[in-house]
Amino acid sequence: MACRATPRTMTDLRLTPLTTSLPSTVPFVGPEAQERARGATFAARLGANESVFGPSPKVAEAMAAVDIWKYGDPENHDLREAVAAHHGIDAQHIMVGEGIDGLLGYLVRLFVGPGDHVVTSLGAYPTFNYHVAGHGGTLHTVTYKDDHEDPAALFAKTAETGAKLVYLANPDNPMGTWHDGAVLERALDTLPDGCVLVLDEAYIECAPHGTAPEIDPADPRVIRMRTFSKVYGLAGARVGYAIGAAPLIDAFNKVRNHFGMNRAAQAGALAALHDQSYLAHVQAQIGAARDRIARIASDNGLSALPSATNFVALDCGADGVFAKAVLDGLIAQGIFVRMPFAAPQNRCIRISCGTAEHLDAFAAALPTALNHARKG
Ligand SMILES: Cc1ncc(COP(=O)(O)O)c(C=O)c1O
Repeated sequence: MACRATPRTMTDLRLTPLTTSLPSTVPFVGPEAQERARGATFAARLGANESVFGPSPKVAEAMAAVDIWKYGDPENHDLREAVAAHHGIDAQHIMVGEGIDGLLGYLVRLFVGPGDHVVTSLGAYPTFNYHVAGHGGTLHTVTYKDDHEDPAALFAKTAETGAKLVYLANPDNPMGTWHDGAVLERALDTLPDGCVLVLDEAYIECAPHGTAPEIDPADPRVIRMRTFSKVYGLAGARVGYAIGAAPLIDAFNKVRNHFGMNRAAQAGALAALHDQSYLAHVQAQIGAARDRIARIASDNGLSALPSATNFVALDCGADGVFAKAVLDGLIAQGIFVRMPFAAPQNRCIRISCGTAEHLDAFAAALPTALNHARKG
């Protein structure tokens, strides 16, 4: 007869002191978890800045043709070469990874341990912060300036703290605002020695021409991050890439998950990259959806922030408590949206570009959500 061991308690787990010290939080509660909690699916999924317009039909064909019993090429050779050719640079400057989120994790692991400092903006994309905490780094923040991330303040804080990494998303999530590339090129001259700028360009394909700064890929001061999750419509496939100096790119090979890339995702991303005319089609749909969201906002007395992304931040005209009440009112009606975390940006709610049908559902739900919030 099998003897029953005494069950262990959590305190018996031999976690590292760092892991034990971490809060039990995740960067985002997913819409699926929210649906399970509500006991109903959302009628419109407008909160995660995915691309509801989907990938090119050629992507589905390429993914279906893959021999999925094989591991993916651990060197991501074909995709790296294609990305490099797309940018007109050498493949030694490209690292492919499991989305920007995965690459940020590797990057932080390469640079940050207990006692290391990093800088970001208060209320900026939180996954970077999550990785920093997970590696025991110390995060310093600066505030947004007029709803934009503020390169001068970020770099000044970097100098003050001796930070090894400074994070800046251009265009920014959650506000959708952006800087002209030339602004960042000039700011780079003030980046303290020994610090690397992590330039997150997740939304660059939605931004006006000139938003991407011209930076030599061999410049050791910058690593840029791009993704197939947004305009290419492949968020679920988890493919992104970093562009940087060859020694930094090479360092990823020391820590990355060797077979981390899914073979179907590699093939899908390659097909997506090769179908640039489909990309243009999605860019047009995003532009139309942004305009429609702005019209829905003004019909309801709200203002829309200018956006260079696939979402629009709507200023609800009061504080974070009011905006949260509007958001709750939308969620209660089956419209999944999110909002910024930090004041004063949290006076806004953030609406991802949706199909006409999804935006109709949002337009129908917004007046009720506003009434609910105004009644307090
Ligand atoms: C600024 C920013 N960076 C990165 C990501 C995540 O990108 P990926 O899906 O490639 O991990 C997002 C997604 O919302 C984002 O807004």
